[in-house]
Amino acid sequence: MKDKVVFVTGGGSGIGRACAIALAAQGAHVAVVGRTLVKCDAVVNEIGAGALAVQADIASSADVQRAIAQTVAHFGGLDVLVNSAGISPSGRITEISEAEWDECLAIDLTSNFLTARHAIPHMMQRGGGVIINVAGTFGMRAASGKAAYSTAKAGVINLTRAIALDYARDGIRCNVVCPGFVDTPLTEGFEGPGRAEFLERYQPLRGMTQAEDIATMVAWLASDTARMITGQLFAVDAGQQAGLFFP
Ligand SMILES: NC(=O)c1ccc[n+]([C@@H]2O[C@H](COP(=O)([O-])OP(=O)(O)OC[C@H]3O[C@@H](n4cnc5c(N)ncnc54)[C@H](O)[C@@H]3O)[C@@H](O)[C@H]2O)c1
Repeated sequence: MKDKVVFVTGGGSGIGRACAIALAAQGAHVAVVGRTLVKCDAVVNEIGAGALAVQADIASSADVQRAIAQTVAHFGGLDVLVNSAGISPSGRITEISEAEWDECLAIDLTSNFLTARHAIPHMMQRGGGVIINVAGTFGMRAASGKAAYSTAKAGVINLTRAIALDYARDGIRCNVVCPGFVDTPLTEGFEGPGRAEFLERYQPLRGMTQAEDIATMVAWLASDTARMITGQLFAVDAGQQAGLFFP
């Protein structure tokens, strides 16, 4: 990853933060992108030289375009896009408002279209690039009470495949990582006995998946080691999607 330029959305916390740190540790220049700068600044300070905090609401095309332009102006180009920013609202379709549905689709799905759309021309100028979308296992099989989220994440999976096919001849690879249940700020509030029961009942491997476990997969996909892999889905879910689990 030496001197590759990486743009990580949601880089201020959780999986995005772990990806930014892992890729920077391998020599990449990283734009740590978030809705507010406070958390991104903290990650940039942690990484040290070679990182840049960038503000953007990823649901806004104008923000995404500006953030990518800022990154390219600062580092001289763009090689890797990691789409990690997201929200995880709950509710059945009769319980959520149309505005909540729209917000979830905008942040969890359309954002991946916007970042790729604005990043790809810069990658083409470099002769290629890599896009890694962070979807989730709920995009592979829906979860109860997570209608908008499950729909958005399923969309991300097929968007990944479409991008992979459409830009393969431009040297651009696009893959999707599906985390299972990961210990990040997103899952705060679901702790204690409820979390323990969920893990016991639905997660085959024991232990808690950490953001770094996802970042390891993302960093590998970003590297030239994965040069012949595109349009693929990789679940990092401690076995949840292997099949029905009867402990
Ligand atoms: N944690 C899990 O168990 C889990 C499981 C499956 C999938 N995921 C996915 O992984 C990704 C990262 O989640 P995480 O667990 O690191 O959560 P997180 O809450 O720690 O990180 C998400 C980041 O996205 C940012 N964000 C949200 N809306 C934004 C917007 N409009 N513009 C810019 N930034 C915005 C948040 O500020 C936050 O920093 C998400 O897409 C999530 O759906 C997480």
